[in-house]
Amino acid sequence: MTTPTVRQRRVLLVVGGGIAAYKTLEVVRRLRERDIAVRAILTRGGREFVTPLSLASLAGDKVYDELFSLTDEAEMGHIRLSREADLVVVAPATADLMAKMAHGHADDLATTALLATDKPVLIAPAMNPVMWEHAATRRNVAQLRADGIAVVGPEGGDMACGEVGTGRMAEPAAILAAVLARLDGGVGRLAGRRAVVTSGPTHEPLDPVRFLANRSSGRQGHAIAEALACAGAEVTLVTGPVALAPPAGVATVEVESAREMADAVDAALPADIAVCAAAVADWRPAEVRDAKLKKSDDGSALTVALTANPDILKTLAQAGPRRPRLVVGFAAETEDVERHARAKLAKKGCDWLLANDVSPATGTFGGARNRVVLFERDGGAERWPELAKTELAERLVARIADALEADTTAAVGAG
Ligand code: C5P
Repeated sequence: MTTPTVRQRRVLLVVGGGIAAYKTLEVVRRLRERDIAVRAILTRGGREFVTPLSLASLAGDKVYDELFSLTDEAEMGHIRLSREADLVVVAPATADLMAKMAHGHADDLATTALLATDKPVLIAPAMNPVMWEHAATRRNVAQLRADGIAVVGPEGGDMACGEVGTGRMAEPAAILAAVLARLDGGVGRLAGRRAVVTSGPTHEPLDPVRFLANRSSGRQGHAIAEALACAGAEVTLVTGPVALAPPAGVATVEVESAREMADAVDAALPADIAVCAAAVADWRPAEVRDAKLKKSDDGSALTVALTANPDILKTLAQAGPRRPRLVVGFAAETEDVERHARAKLAKKGCDWLLANDVSPATGTFGGARNRVVLFERDGGAERWPELAKTELAERLVARIADALEADTTAAVGAG
């Protein structure tokens, strides 16, 4: 199956003058990773925090910053600049920028473009907590909301200025989720669908201080959960121990062992979609000691008996009436990837299996990129190019939305 070509989505990004502007660079990177065009306007204040060069390099486009620059006007007038985008994003939106927007000022390129636009606008406020709580800011935010402007954040926590309170700009992932939801017309393609995703390794206790585990980072599973949520699905992410923050907009359940993961997945049903990206330990120590195992004085070897863990993917795929409509698994292989993946697809009974080569040379485990072949139950195979794990997640989610929108009996196995 070929991916249908779609018009490239475009964001006009206004970067205001705040320390949070450095986080905006990460938003630009993540938008570009998804092939969303980013054209940036840097305010005079914004220029104090990020350079036009860093913004232009990440955006892959010229950065605009002077209202009356004759070259800019000749190449791209401020009206065109504000109209060519699908969405205008202001991040960070400073107290001053918000005040100007609320009152319709147009005294530089950013405010003029914001006044001239006929496109939806999303702002990510960032300021000192006292400024955020000030009656003038409260009035301005209320006015902007009444004008139909969407607001993401701010969040609470430690501020760069040393104070604690609400005012930190939303994290890049939350801004990204808000942008993607709006680019999809505000209603994601998976709105109304429920999804359960497993991610990360499992830890199988041997005694109170030791466990069996593997090198899974959870990056792929977490990216899939986040991408499903961005597409409007109601997502439960069941994750083993990882060093990642829970994705925005996702109900995250943290577990340790495979048995806990199996129980949490079961509790998340019914679901329309299940994606098993966790590297579940196949075995666990048959006996978990109450006290720490001691070395023997004579240095003799220790034999640990292992017992099989429940296979969560297989259980889901063979759950009869409780089976999600689309069950997707991963196959991490180090050799003869395709042959093993086909056998696994049949054995587990899932609809799709994404096979990836995790031999050490590929750097897939713990890395930011991945290369998979998607095997379908009906025999189809799609070789995907090497992609960032976030991009792979987006592509998988688009593919899931296609399948669920298509004739369910033709596109999705019935179990
Ligand atoms: O059999 P194998 O571990 O290679 O299968 C990999 C796929 O099965 C992955 O999707 C993984 O999340 C899932 N799995 C599972 N429960 C297990 C073992 C694997 O859900 N106990």
